[in-house]
Amino acid sequence: MRAYFLTGAHGCIGAWVVKALLERGDVAVAFDLAGDPRRLRLLLEDAQLASVRFIHGDVTDAAAVLRALEASGARHVIHLAGLQVPVCKAEPLLGARVNVLGTLHVLEAARQLGCERVVYASSAAVFGRGVDGRPVAEDEPAEASTHYGVFKRANEGNARVYWLDHGLNSVGLRPLTVYGVGRDFGLTSGPTKAMKAAVLGRPYCIRFSGSTDFLYAADAAAAFLAAADRAPDGASVFNVHGDTAAVADVVGLIREQAPGADIRFSGPELPIPAELDGRALDSALGPLHRTPLSAGVRETMDRFTRLRDAARLDSADLDT
Ligand SMILES: NC(=O)c1ccc[n+]([C@@H]2O[C@H](COP(=O)([O-])OP(=O)(O)OC[C@H]3O[C@@H](n4cnc5c(N)ncnc54)[C@H](O)[C@@H]3O)[C@@H](O)[C@H]2O)c1
Repeated sequence: MRAYFLTGAHGCIGAWVVKALLERGDVAVAFDLAGDPRRLRLLLEDAQLASVRFIHGDVTDAAAVLRALEASGARHVIHLAGLQVPVCKAEPLLGARVNVLGTLHVLEAARQLGCERVVYASSAAVFGRGVDGRPVAEDEPAEASTHYGVFKRANEGNARVYWLDHGLNSVGLRPLTVYGVGRDFGLTSGPTKAMKAAVLGRPYCIRFSGSTDFLYAADAAAAFLAAADRAPDGASVFNVHGDTAAVADVVGLIREQAPGADIRFSGPELPIPAELDGRALDSALGPLHRTPLSAGVRETMDRFTRLRDAARLDSADLDT
């Protein structure tokens, strides 16, 4: 049994990491600014939720991060706390405080306490548009077109310098469009909201078009845990490839599960390449499970249906 310190544990990916940790008998120490673990409640039984060690705190507070990490006794850190593209666009100063300074606080605390490794969420948003339809590899020279992407790139650089200066091991993982129960905010949350809307019999319009790299949230969580457990020493950064498909295909898969669902899409393509080359991660950690989009959509809609039937499905995100 091992303790893992998780920032952003109340978020979508965090909730799936906590679920996976509890299922294998490990300890999850969940550090988050949010008081209400509402996404965790969507995935966990009450008894499981009671076994999570919650620490309420803000990653912009360096002393609080250090205190919490020390109190956790964890040697493995998974840093997921962050503000997403729309917030970083509207409030870049706040975005930098949380996403850049917050990450530095986590790296610094891990260094001071001699932690084994920090695995942190970077993002495929480090790539800008402009790669000609090929899967992009990690070292592709591409410029982020959002503050969010620039902040994530800065984190990758800072993690590398912590390795060079202090020998702190780290892994940055770059997912693209994570979907699954609990995904309810951010530029790429539309497909998951559409699945929820279809289950609730409500119309929904996904606000982007084209193709993207869909990553099932359970697979994202598994990648973070695999990196925490067995990444090579050093400061690495890996893409996390899932299943690249068109938004039109995901709409078709939703309609297969909910015939007649009023789900549409419109809007620009994402300013991020549609397919990540994920081979480097597989070479470093061994092949990771990739849930096909069809299975992930089915599982997500089944989970939403069970939550709906138990009157536990919050639909507030469909109005935002
Ligand atoms: N979801 C995706 O498709 C995706 C893709 C690429 C990268 N990422 C990155 O993965 C990470 C997790 O994504 P997610 O979808 O679970 O995000 P999310 O928005 O669901 O959750 C983020 C969590 O961070 C917490 N948080 C925000 N500010 C904080 C602060 N100052 N101190 C402590 N906690 C704070 C929030 O309360 C929330 O629980 C993020 O860093 C995100 O940028 C996500």
